[in-house]
Amino acid sequence: MGRIPGITIHEIGSYVVRNYLLETPVGIIAVDTGYSGGFAKFKDRFEKKWPLSALRYIFVTHHHDDHVGFLGDLVASTQATVVLHQSASEYIANGRNNMPPGGGYSSLPGSLFGLVKKDFSFPPLTLPADRVVTVASQDDQVFESLGLPIRVLLLPGHTDDSIGLWLPQTGIILCGDAAMNAVISVARHTIWIDDTAEFGRSWDKMVSYHPKLIYPAHGNPFEASDLAKYRHYLDGKQLIPPK
Ligand SMILES: [Fe+2]
Repeated sequence: MGRIPGITIHEIGSYVVRNYLLETPVGIIAVDTGYSGGFAKFKDRFEKKWPLSALRYIFVTHHHDDHVGFLGDLVASTQATVVLHQSASEYIANGRNNMPPGGGYSSLPGSLFGLVKKDFSFPPLTLPADRVVTVASQDDQVFESLGLPIRVLLLPGHTDDSIGLWLPQTGIILCGDAAMNAVISVARHTIWIDDTAEFGRSWDKMVSYHPKLIYPAHGNPFEASDLAKYRHYLDGKQLIPPK
């Protein structure tokens, strides 16, 4: 066994939408983008650390507008490979959050946010096939196959294309929107949930890795023990349908 390469986590986004960057021996892995229009600020902050050409992978935790809004800008400006769930490409090409029947808001503040926001579209993007690696099952481990200690986790429930990353060296899970710790989220529940049973099973999966910290896409990192503490609220939870 050679030396296990270290991974350093950087964050160049904001409390509202995080932009985690993983510094690895093969280059930088960006975890998601942000809302449309955010590319200039992202580029500026990224280039204070590295040239944009250092970006080798863009890991898309799911297709929502606040995660892929400037994915097209990043794809056009780099040679980075996009890693995403097999269901995500079609949603990204549609340019709209997929909100299936049965899905809804997990809290009243969340539903008010949805009412105010109204627009869940983003620039539609057809990804070039030679720049994409899709994840269909837990066997698809693009980073481990490169020798990196980064495991892709399938975390459906918020959406069916939700995926995250497990970093065993530091005990950190980057969960995308499989959990949330911002002001309008209650009990670490993400404000939108497609399927509560799936969402709960994804929490169980995260807990099974015995992580120390969870880094959500929205809000602050939190102790992984919170998932166990708030898990029972998901059983039989009634979602508020979108208006
Ligand atoms: Fe989301």
